Amino acid sequence: MVWCKGIVLVFGILAFFCGSILAVLGPGDKYNGYQVWRVVPTNVDQIRSLIKLEHNFDGFDLVDFWREATPSSLHRPVDIMVPPSLRNNLRDILTSLSLDIEINIPDVGALVTGQMSEIQTRRANEPVGTAALSDFDYTRYHTYDEIQQWVSDIVTEYSDITSHFLLTTSYEGRPINGFRIRGRNSVASDPPPPAVWFEGGIHAREWISPATVMWFTAQLLQDYEDGDELAMSMFDNMDWYIVPSLNPDGYTYTWTNDRLWRKTRSDNLDSTGSGCRGADPNRNFPFGWAGNGTSPFPCSNIYHGKSALSEPEVDGVVEYLRNLKANNQNFLIFLDWHSYGQYFLSPWSYSAYAPNPPDYDAMMAMGKAASDAIAAVHGTVFQSGSSIELLNEAAGSSKDWGYVPYDETSKFRGGLGAKYSYTVELRDKGTYGFLLPEDQIQPVGEEMYAGVRAIGDYILRELGFIP
Ligand SMILES: *[C@@H]1O[C@H](CO)[C@@H](O)[C@H](O)[C@H]1NC(C)=O
Ligand SMILES: [Zn+2]
Repeated sequence: MVWCKGIVLVFGILAFFCGSILAVLGPGDKYNGYQVWRVVPTNVDQIRSLIKLEHNFDGFDLVDFWREATPSSLHRPVDIMVPPSLRNNLRDILTSLSLDIEINIPDVGALVTGQMSEIQTRRANEPVGTAALSDFDYTRYHTYDEIQQWVSDIVTEYSDITSHFLLTTSYEGRPINGFRIRGRNSVASDPPPPAVWFEGGIHAREWISPATVMWFTAQLLQDYEDGDELAMSMFDNMDWYIVPSLNPDGYTYTWTNDRLWRKTRSDNLDSTGSGCRGADPNRNFPFGWAGNGTSPFPCSNIYHGKSALSEPEVDGVVEYLRNLKANNQNFLIFLDWHSYGQYFLSPWSYSAYAPNPPDYDAMMAMGKAASDAIAAVHGTVFQSGSSIELLNEAAGSSKDWGYVPYDETSKFRGGLGAKYSYTVELRDKGTYGFLLPEDQIQPVGEEMYAGVRAIGDYILRELGFIP
């Protein structure tokens, strides 16, 4: 069966996008012959043209800007995944803009298929479902079910300092589990201790995120049991809420059907009949919802959803945290773990014209403390800055919501009021992008473990728990 998706006028070039519907064979097949290109704009005309190009393709699910073109893209890479059918057109367009094309990934499908077959071969030779926590292999990527089992096992192993919570249930009915860490010497009272929120995996294809959250959390829990002074202070003086994998439907889909799926998997009941599923959960938070850096098209990777909080995964975060706020728990840190690019991104992201928020300098200082600690491990360089300075506009993002003051009157108003709110973009800088190989999980885990300890040290000093 042959389909034609539509016509787009791109810089005067008419393009039909046609293809054949094939049986879905594996999570990489869709991407056979796709390439990821990098261009680095050196003047504002090029930036304007790239933004227009991205805009023209928005909603067609064809050309995926892995790293977007934004007003802040000057001398910064823009990474574009190009399907084979558009290679010539796009090369002509970019060349006409005097942009040099560097090929980051020559064949996305081949890369995915290679990685997946390695994973599948290994899994086929492993005993299924019997791994105890002590056998959990942190150097590998894990399925959603395994991650949930890990949460359950952690809560059993560290039962005196952790407590499980069911955050909510995903669109397709999967439980989203998390746990709170509260040390043995915590003076839990009213009000409860100041708190930290870590969420991983909001974007399905960013596999390094849940893997890293599990890595450093396990290390820190072990540190606590070993009597490590910093870990003890972190958990005895603050509550740490951990959700390693927030987008179970999307994450599962990346394992079974489409390795580069980013969004949720909800049915958009799209009046155009596109059949495209899912919203970008990181555009579905209520603050600034449907503003700049979002898309109204259900097929877009930055589709903001039918309404603010339309995605149950996002609504679950907001409901859960508002409930804690209503019970007088104060959140100091809100941290959403992503890849890629190596950034600590603070608010704002909703508008390129927004002045820096009052706590910008504080957020930069904590970001620098973390970055210094990270760089000391393997030399990996992280940059700190606001989202609009370093990456993109993105209204309705988690980090803006994490920062905006709490408003008890409605979940559609205000946010969490955390003084330190970030999107962290883990490795790499684009060599593999979202397809970071398993052999980098350990170094990323090691450097981010150091980064989280630095964050702990920083906040405990601010609170006066470390002199
Ligand atoms: C959104 O972007 C448009 C175009 O750049 C701009 O005119 C508008 O002021 C922006 N809105 C906000 C809230 O920044
Ligand atoms: Zn992301």
